[in-house]
Amino acid sequence: MCGIIGYIGPKKVVPILIEGLKKLEYRGYDSAGVALVDKGKIHVKRVKGKIKELEASLKKSPLAGSYGLGHTRWATHGRPSEENAHPHRDCSGRIVIVHNGIIENYLVLKRKLKDEGHTFTTETDTEVIAHLIEKHFKGSLENAVRAAIAVLEGAFAIAAISADDPDKIVAAKLGPPVVVGFGDDEYLLSSDINPILSHTQKVAFLDDGEMAILEPSGVTFTDFKGNAVKKKVETLAWNPMMIEKRGFKHFMLKEIFEQPEVVRDTLLGRTSLDSGKVLLDELGVKPQLLKKVRKAVLIACGTSYHAGLVGRYFFESLAKLPVDVEYGSEFRYRDIILDKETLVVVISQSGETADTLAALRASKGKCAAVLAVTNTVSSSIAREADGVLYTHAGPEIGVAATKTFTAQMTALALIALYVAQARGAVDKKASLAFIQEFQRIPHKMEKILGQAKTIEDLALHFVPFSHFLYLGRWVNFPVAMEGALKLKEISYIHAEAYPGGEMKHGPIALIDENMPTMAIIPEDRVYDKMLSNISEIKARLGYVLAVAHENDAQIRQRVDAVIPVPAAHPLLMPFLTVVPLQLFAYYIAAKRGADVDQPRNLAKSVTVE
Ligand code: G6P
Repeated sequence: MCGIIGYIGPKKVVPILIEGLKKLEYRGYDSAGVALVDKGKIHVKRVKGKIKELEASLKKSPLAGSYGLGHTRWATHGRPSEENAHPHRDCSGRIVIVHNGIIENYLVLKRKLKDEGHTFTTETDTEVIAHLIEKHFKGSLENAVRAAIAVLEGAFAIAAISADDPDKIVAAKLGPPVVVGFGDDEYLLSSDINPILSHTQKVAFLDDGEMAILEPSGVTFTDFKGNAVKKKVETLAWNPMMIEKRGFKHFMLKEIFEQPEVVRDTLLGRTSLDSGKVLLDELGVKPQLLKKVRKAVLIACGTSYHAGLVGRYFFESLAKLPVDVEYGSEFRYRDIILDKETLVVVISQSGETADTLAALRASKGKCAAVLAVTNTVSSSIAREADGVLYTHAGPEIGVAATKTFTAQMTALALIALYVAQARGAVDKKASLAFIQEFQRIPHKMEKILGQAKTIEDLALHFVPFSHFLYLGRWVNFPVAMEGALKLKEISYIHAEAYPGGEMKHGPIALIDENMPTMAIIPEDRVYDKMLSNISEIKARLGYVLAVAHENDAQIRQRVDAVIPVPAAHPLLMPFLTVVPLQLFAYYIAAKRGADVDQPRNLAKSVTVE
């Protein structure tokens, strides 16, 4: 986690760093700081709290400088405080660094550096890097950084500056992402492309083990030993407009409303209505290889894990494959049993989640292929997987994932149908029917979004509640999990999800007038079962809201309130049932005055374990 930014060029530095940090704030927001070099001195300003606090402090006492670094923090080692905020200094204050990641051996290094006479002023793991650079500094910042990182264990994206080797920013990556932006006589570095986009669409992504040296005359890339590395400069398709709120109160609301377009874009050009085929040559995986696949393992974290859980039903129903769905954080520590007939799919919006990346690395070479579903071009996961299917969701700024969830489900359905076709598990008629139904989904989502005001009015009744239960079955059980996750992460209301049939094995004990239930009950193969589950709750005086088909008359007699959604292919219902749940959570959180786009304690991209 954490966001880092650096700028070297002719423009005023502070506004560029502050604007950049605001765009990185989703990565962590408990403290922030900047460092600027001015006439042979480095000036540092740090605050506890959000970027707006840093901005206000810089307005009160401005800093001058010709280039500099910025950082927004999500605390790992050391509580959120001004002292622990980055940038961190060496003993002299003439070397300053920002860091994203974790230095696992920092205590050993700290003890040694202290014995050697270095004075520490923070509780962080990061500070050791500044002192290590100081220790090795003999006039060249890049050489000192190289010597320092040689003894680090863990993960890091760092950027360093030194008053004694001026007009230079040195960055290094092992784990968390670093992107370098190439403007007109100006260069930026950042943890992701968002801050860079307002300046240039030309970027290069550092690989693990690489360094970048940014100077006014250009950028040099090397490996950790100092050997020159040739980097490809890519021109991005994303533009700065895509990261504006465009009239919506929050990014999250804007992103919920973008979903029909996102599903359309993710489907676009990837299916044929003539042949009924899924067209995924871009995956770069030979159909012969997929033909031999006997099992799928889907791995992800957070909301992406929920997309994986929905994906399980696509693979089972369409490709007729057994499927395991795993948390990245658990999978990596298991006795991993894979074989050459198992297809692994890792799912990650950011493409940088440390646990998912570790699971990818643990699987690679041990299975038929590792495919990645990600929203982030050239992310670590995209680069390391054997094949990638990009979700065309555009940048997602709200920390709570919404549009990337529906985009991931779209990508998973496409891969499942592609594998099904390679295996001969579906015929043309069934494929065509599925694709046609899929193409109608965006329009149906638009219908649901058209009822946002009604969903808001309903949601407002639940603002004072402290607990919520979400129930679903079959393909809508993961949607219940995602609905509960959205409510808890942005409104801080405790919510948990259960498959309807499990109610009687425990959670039903919780039911009373203070524990409302959100039931997802489209007319599918488990409809009658869900009706019985709901009756059990009603019999115990529980309040039940249902997300149900718009033409379902029966459900209205059985529950307290209904959020209607259009009917669709049963496997595709999650695309529709999740939308009201996202809106429901959003309106409750907004009414509670919660910081919807940046919920407390959360970060969007978790690049540490
Ligand atoms: C964080 C975010 C979640 C996200 C999860 C996985 O916890 O707050 O919204 O679902 O990471 O992220 P990924 O980028 O791998 O999808």
